[in-house]
Amino acid sequence: MPETSRQEIIKLPQTACRMELKTVTNYLANSIFLDGVDAVEVKRALASDVPEELHHAQLPGNRIQQLGGRIPGSLELNFDQQSLLPPEDPLNIVSVINGVVEAEQSTEELLPLRPRSTSGLHLPPLV
Ligand SMILES: [Fe+2]
Repeated sequence: MPETSRQEIIKLPQTACRMELKTVTNYLANSIFLDGVDAVEVKRALASDVPEELHHAQLPGNRIQQLGGRIPGSLELNFDQQSLLPPEDPLNIVSVINGVVEAEQSTEELLPLRPRSTSGLHLPPLV
């Protein structure tokens, strides 16, 4: 396989790995940072999904390894997801829920690289 093609092929799992690590980071941060009675179930759901999201990052990481590529390290992660960042107000769980939805939708196109979440993030209704 030509080197250019191999490098192009490796870019997709590298992107998937970065996206999953970004999700892990924000799930962990929000599982700690959110506050208030309404946040209890969201925090629990986010914390319980951290290991699954780590597994999602391992899958494309393993694919990169098989393809002879380099797995992105901390200086190459380029986290750019704004919507799942911990909000200014720890009571603002809506912004986090919207971020979770956006994160899930943004990884939909990468589904062939990882299994669909079996447990998913089961967020409680907002009302
Ligand atoms: Fe994931």
